[in-house]
Amino acid sequence: DRLPALLRAMPKAELHIHIEGSLEPELIFKLAERNGVKLAYPSVEALRAAYAFTDLQSFLDIYYAGASVLLKEQDFFDMAWAYFEKAAADNVVHAELFFDPQTHTERGVPMGTVIRGLEHACRRAHAEMGISASLILCFLRHLSEDAAMATLEEALPYRQHFIGVGLDSSERGHPPEKFARVFARCRELGLRIVAHAGEEGPPEYIRSALDVLKVERIDHGVRCVEDPALVRRLAAERMPLTVCPLSNVKLCVFKTLADHNLPALLKAGLVATINSDDPAYFGGYMNDNFVQTFAALPQWGAREAWQLAHNSFEASFVPEAAKQAWV
Ligand code: HPA
Ligand code: ZN
Repeated sequence: DRLPALLRAMPKAELHIHIEGSLEPELIFKLAERNGVKLAYPSVEALRAAYAFTDLQSFLDIYYAGASVLLKEQDFFDMAWAYFEKAAADNVVHAELFFDPQTHTERGVPMGTVIRGLEHACRRAHAEMGISASLILCFLRHLSEDAAMATLEEALPYRQHFIGVGLDSSERGHPPEKFARVFARCRELGLRIVAHAGEEGPPEYIRSALDVLKVERIDHGVRCVEDPALVRRLAAERMPLTVCPLSNVKLCVFKTLADHNLPALLKAGLVATINSDDPAYFGGYMNDNFVQTFAALPQWGAREAWQLAHNSFEASFVPEAAKQAWV
C-alpha cells in the first residue's frame, strides 16, 4: 500500500497549530531547569501519563501549566524551532502558527519577548528550511473582551510580525459575539480573522463567528453538520474548516477516527483541511494526523489526499500570486 508514503511526501500547509501545544514534555523539563521553574510532575514520564483528557477544559488546564516554563525570548524561539523541524520532516511547506500572548503576559512575560522569539524562528525556518511561516495572535475567550482589547493594543508595536487574530480556549459559555468590538477593531487594522467555533460549542457559534466576527476561516467547525442549512452556506461561501482529527479523538469530540465526520464534510463540498492543533499533547504532528486518519477511513484514497492538500493551500493566507505556485 503506497498511500501512507504519498500522504507523508505530499507538500501541505498547516493552518491550525497552537505553538504552545507543540511543547514536548522533554522541552518542558529542559526549560523548567534552565529557568528555575518548579513543575507539578516529577518526570517526563509522569507528565506524559497525565495526558488523558475527557474534554477541552481538562486539556487546557494541563496545556496552560506546561506553558509556564516559557519566560525568555530564547524559550519561545526554541519551542517554535522544534516545531519547524517536525514540520519540515512532514513536508509542511507553509504554516500559520497560533500563539496565546495572554498566557504569557499574565505571568509577567513582556509581549515583545513572546513575539520576537516566535518571529525569529519563523524567519529562520524560511531561510534555512524553505518553510513560509506566519503568526496569528489568539485571544483567550475565557477572559474578558477588555482584556483582549488591551492585549491587541500591547501587540500593535509588533503589528508587522503577525498577519491575523484568532479566538481560542474554553468555548462553551464564551460565544464569538462576546468579542464583537475587539474583532471589529482588528478588521479596521487589516488583520486576517479566524475563530475556533463548533469544536465543543453549538452550530450557532459558527454562525456568529461568520456574522459577527466576520471570520475568513473556522477552526474545527465539525459541529456544523447538526445544521444542514449552515453546511450549505459554508460550502457556497467556500469557508474553510481547519479540522484536527487526532485532537478531536483525544478531547472526546469523536470516539474514534473511524467515527470522525471528515468524510461527510468533504462530501458536502466543504473546504476542510487536516491539522495537528496541539501535537505534543494529542499524539501526533501533521503526517501522523494524515496517516492515521486515512488508515481509519478505508473509503479514502489518493483523490482525498490531493483534495486535502489542495484545500490547505486554498485556505491559507498566502498572497494569491504565491498560492498559484502551489495549487
Ligand atoms: N480549542 C480551544 N482552545 C485551544 C485548543 C483547542 O483545540 N488548543 C489550544 N487552545
Ligand atoms: Zn485549536
